[in-house]
Parts: sequence; structure tokens; C-alpha cells
Amino acid sequence: MKNVLLCAVALLVSVQAIVAQTATYAILPKPTQLEAGKGSYTLPTTPAISVQSANPEVRRIAQVLADQLAKATGFSPLITTGNASKGISFVDAKGKQLGAEGYTLVVSPKQIIIAAEQPQGFFYGVQSLMQLMPAAIFSPTKVSGVAWTVPACTITDQPRYGYRGSMLDVGRYFYPVAFIKKYIDLLALHKMNTFHWHLTEDQGWRIEIKKYPKLTEVSSIRKKTMAGHYRDHAYDDKPYGGFYTQDEVRDVVKYAQERYITVIPEIEMPGHSVAVLAAYPELGSNPDKILDVSYNWGVHDDVLFPREETFTFLENVLTEVMGLFPSQYIHIGGDECPKTQWKQSRFCQALMKEKGLKDEHELQSYFIQRIDKFVTSKGRRIIGWDEILEGGLSPNATVMSWRGISGGIAAARQNHDVVMSPTTYCYLDYYQADPKTQPVTIGGLLPLEKVYSFNPSVSDSLTADQSKHILGVQGNVWSEYLPTTHSVEYMAYPRLIALAETGWTPQASRNIDDFKQRLEIHKKRLDYLKVNYFGAPINNTFQYVWPKETAKK
Ligand code: ACM
Repeated sequence: MKNVLLCAVALLVSVQAIVAQTATYAILPKPTQLEAGKGSYTLPTTPAISVQSANPEVRRIAQVLADQLAKATGFSPLITTGNASKGISFVDAKGKQLGAEGYTLVVSPKQIIIAAEQPQGFFYGVQSLMQLMPAAIFSPTKVSGVAWTVPACTITDQPRYGYRGSMLDVGRYFYPVAFIKKYIDLLALHKMNTFHWHLTEDQGWRIEIKKYPKLTEVSSIRKKTMAGHYRDHAYDDKPYGGFYTQDEVRDVVKYAQERYITVIPEIEMPGHSVAVLAAYPELGSNPDKILDVSYNWGVHDDVLFPREETFTFLENVLTEVMGLFPSQYIHIGGDECPKTQWKQSRFCQALMKEKGLKDEHELQSYFIQRIDKFVTSKGRRIIGWDEILEGGLSPNATVMSWRGISGGIAAARQNHDVVMSPTTYCYLDYYQADPKTQPVTIGGLLPLEKVYSFNPSVSDSLTADQSKHILGVQGNVWSEYLPTTHSVEYMAYPRLIALAETGWTPQASRNIDDFKQRLEIHKKRLDYLKVNYFGAPINNTFQYVWPKETAKK
């Protein structure tokens, strides 16, 4: 009996220790290894930051830390070059096998040492260090009366997956550059490294292309917008539009680079292209067809036709796009392309016969292969939604698996790279709680716990070599029901943090209860950053402002 009691007490003490550790070390995503230390480091009023690395990029990162410390604490950090035995040090970690993104962070009462092999690792070390400090460190202005301490610990950290991304759809609704930057900041805070910018849709083309001015003059504006749920077929009768200039795009790409985020542009083809056809109908079924930029959500029968003029157009567009985005990947869409018009077209049927293509799926594959060849010839690679598997996968394509994980498995079995982004775990436009309590969404139900439960590894279905093709995970924010930046944040957060942890933290270390405890602490940081996550105090009562009284049936 005594033994049982002793065991129970020991268990209680260790549970309490874990809870205390979780509260003290609330880093999201959870580091690979974290050993608690004794005591804490207290920031002096002139924090010394020494940079051993000769890489100017590391100094820039030290400056980012210094700037934030200065803003929130009112202290005056001083950056020096070389090694120091006190203060915060940025030290080269040669030969520690931390990889490009890994780092170590050692906090003792005497000093803080961040070590990494590459700048990106230092950048992530800084993210973790900030998350060890009081939440007020994220304040944009000075906060008084805070004990600026950092609990002692030893962290060794590197990501589980190399691809940790989020897609934002700016086609259905357009968000200003300032918000795109905030979105990127939040990705970086959670050690995500890819921003997939969904720039073209049936309802709006959002990127300036110099060679085709009508893409912005015509394709970026729709006459009206759906109000309420799609099935209501009600509209607001107000023109809606917006696009990013090439200068703005360059600015966003640079901003993202400074935060170690690759921006992958998506130019949809051959489906989801009604906005293009409204300006250039000759690229579709009939050059005389009058089409509006779509004001209905959903999938549309009007699609690009595999004509030589279309390939010339797309190659010209992609040339400008590749000039703006240095990413290895160019996303070419490929999803939800109805074959209705191709089936009814003499031109398409003759082309299929000429090329020996047995059905319209093979015709789509022919379309994508042409684009693949072009993009590959420019030293880049295409990535597309999993429909690009149908009719035969193009030789250099990477697949984004969204209709479940089976497309990803099929692609990996063909030795193609894969990003896992299934609707069942990664579609952040789905409801996150009882729909009766939520603003209207497209449907579905994907609470935080379900998102967190996703394990992108499909090693049971793949050989070890094939498993290496699973590059990582992505959360998608489709925007049919997200008319404001507030609504985007409401749907993306906190669920995107769960996916950030899925992409970063070893599966064996992940635990939903532990995650939720850390998240509660993290929310205070998000409050300082003015993020309207689900449950946030700042504007959780927002309503979508659809003018129902003027809506037409
Ligand atoms: C998609 O959700 N249509 C990729």
C-alpha cells in the first residue's frame, strides 16, 4: 500500500513537472529536444549580442532580435562582433549536423548561445528564444513592469519535414500587401518555410502581367460577389477587384526571403480560368464567347483549350512570373478541370487523335506536360494538385495531394515528390467548431484536434525510398467565405500552428494535450501581434457583412 502511495506521489510530481515545463517552455512548434535547466537568464538594460559568424546574414538576424528587444523592453541592445562569454551569442555550429534549418539554443543564468550552421537555423533559434521570453516581448511598443527573464534550457532542434507551407487564396477575395506580409510573419514565427500564393481564379486574376494588360484591366474585376452561402445564390451587386503590381510582388518576395519563406506562385490551368477567358476568349472554347469574370463560386465548365495560342500565352505569363519569383517550384494548378467542352470540341478531338491520346484526361496530361517541359527548360519545376496524376503524371512534376492522401501515395510510388495537403486535415476553410456557432463556411468540420492528428507519413504504404518523396505538409486557406483579413486569421489560426507542429516536430514527441497547453500561453503572444485567431479577444465577434437586405435571389 505504501509503495502504491509512493508511486502515486511520484507520478503526480512528474506530471506536475511536465505541466510546469510545458508552461515554462511554450515553444510552438515543439522543439525536437528540450532539456530544462536550473534558474534563468535576466536581460540587462543594455543586452549585449555578439555575432561570431562572418556571414552578414547572421548579423542581420541578430539585428532583428535586437530591434524587437528594443521595441518591447525599451532596452538598448548592442551588437558586437566575435565571441563573448556573456550576453546573447550567435555562434557557428560547424559539423553538428543540424542541417540548413537546425539550431541549438542554450540558456543559462550567465548567457544565451544560439548556434547554427546556416542563417535559417539562427533565424529559428531566435524564434524559439523569443517564445521563451514573456509574451510581452512580441509587443510593438514598450511594456513596463515585466521581468525580462528566459528560463534555462538546452534545445537541439531541426525539422521533421523540409516543406512546411500554407496556401492563401487571393482570387476569391483580395488582401492587401500589408496583410500578406503579416501572414508571412506568422508563418515565420511558427517556423513554416513556404507561402503558396494562389494568385489566379475564376473570380479574379491578381497579378500584373505586363504583356497582357487585360488580365488586370478586365480579369481582376468581377461585377458582383456571392452573399451568404453558395447555395443561396444571392449577390451583393457591387464590383469587386484588386491585383498586385509587379513591384508589390517583388517586395513581398523579398520580405518573405528575409524570413526564410519561399513564395510559390500559383497560376491556375487549364481549369479555374474563367477570369482569363473573360479577357481573352480566344484561349477557350470559342473566341466569340462573351464571358464575365465569374461571380459564382464552384467549378466552371469554361476552361483553357490546348491551342498553340494558349501555350504561347501561358509561356509568356510564366516567363514574367518566373522573373518575379525565384522559387524552384511554380504551381500550375491542374485541379477541377471539367472535360465537358473538350469532349464537345472538334479541335480537341482532332488533337487527341493526332497525338494518340485515348481520352480527355490524357489531353490534360498533354497540356501539363507541355507546361512542364517549358518550366523545366527554365531550370524550374512544376507542382500541381493531384488531378495531374490523371492521364499520366508529367515527368518532372511534384504532386500536392488534396483529395485525401491517395494521390500522394500514388505519386510517391512513381518516385515523384509529394506535398500532403488533404481536405480531411489541411483545409482550413472548413468549420472549426459547431457550424451553429460559426460564421458561414464552405462546409466540412475540421476542429483543431483533428488537424493536429494528421500524420503525413504514409510509410505503411510506401518503401523507405518512396517515403522520402513526402516532402511535407501544407494548410490551405481557400477564401470563398473570407471577405476580410480578419476572417482569414480567424480560420487560419490556431489551426495552422497545429500543422506547423505536424511539419516540424517528430511524430513521437507530439501530444495534443501538451500542444493545447502551450497554445494557451502562445495565444498571449498572438494577442500582442493582433492576430484574430478563433477565440481571440480582439475581434471575435465579427460578422460577415453581407448585405442580405439588398441581395437578389
Ligand atoms: C482544390 O481544393 N481545388 C485544390
